[in-house]
Amino acid sequence: MTDWDGERYAAIATLQHDLGRRFAAELSPPQGARVLDAGCGDGYVTRLIADRPEVVQVVGFDPSPLMIRKARDDAHPSIDFVEGDVTAFVTTQPFDLAVSLNALHWVVDSVAALSRLREAVHPGAAVVCQFVPEGERPSIEDVALSVATAPAWAPWFEGFSAPHVHRTRGQWRDIAAAAGLVVEEATERDLAWDFGRATAFRTWCALGFTSFTERLPEERRDEFVARVTDEYGRVTGSDQVFRFLQLRLATRRPE
Ligand SMILES: C[S@@+](CC[C@H](N)C(=O)[O-])C[C@H]1O[C@@H](n2cnc3c(N)ncnc32)[C@H](O)[C@@H]1O
Repeated sequence: MTDWDGERYAAIATLQHDLGRRFAAELSPPQGARVLDAGCGDGYVTRLIADRPEVVQVVGFDPSPLMIRKARDDAHPSIDFVEGDVTAFVTTQPFDLAVSLNALHWVVDSVAALSRLREAVHPGAAVVCQFVPEGERPSIEDVALSVATAPAWAPWFEGFSAPHVHRTRGQWRDIAAAAGLVVEEATERDLAWDFGRATAFRTWCALGFTSFTERLPEERRDEFVARVTDEYGRVTGSDQVFRFLQLRLATRRPE
């Protein structure tokens, strides 16, 4: 597992935080809700959820110690931040709502992830996840993987397997059903974020590509990231605009 750098993430997460505000605003927690946030990262979204008037307590978990350390920096009276992996998460106190924003496309065993979230909520409660699905346009991670397997970089990537999993909306519907969840909504949005400058886009990518660049000698990392953003520019027509899909998968545990 890659330990995402929570300090760096929070400093450059304007895009993630913008997505987080929209995601939190679209949730409908029941009155007096206890909410679970899987893959909470730096805790920004967790705090927005905790500030909603219907919510009394939130547990945010993430396997990355650096992310959890950053999340705990900004203490909130109704949030507990704990280390944990969504494929192994268990609780003795079921929640009224479980959510996850942009974490599940980093988890290979999607059925296990959704099964653990189903078991973590009461019968009849909602599990609402949003993440990057498979689309027709190559994703930035697809481009990173193709650069990594090119001859110039391949020696550092022997035995490397993609850290991300992108599945189609139909596959996610099947996965939710296999995990015992009823799908109420599976909506895809095609979004874009203009970083304003190519260097800002590269800085953002440098963090997101940690699982790739940690294999490289430090002095070659910037070159790898620049190569990926150059290639990606051919897909999008810009060296500073990130184009990405978001799938909102709203499900419910049957009564
Ligand atoms: C792009 S960040 C999203 C963080 C936060 N939800 C947000 O929207 O800002 C992806 C997060 O997924 C977490 N993650 C990766 N694998 C995970 C797993 N197996 N279980 C839970 N979280 C995981 C990473 O550690 C990282 O914090």
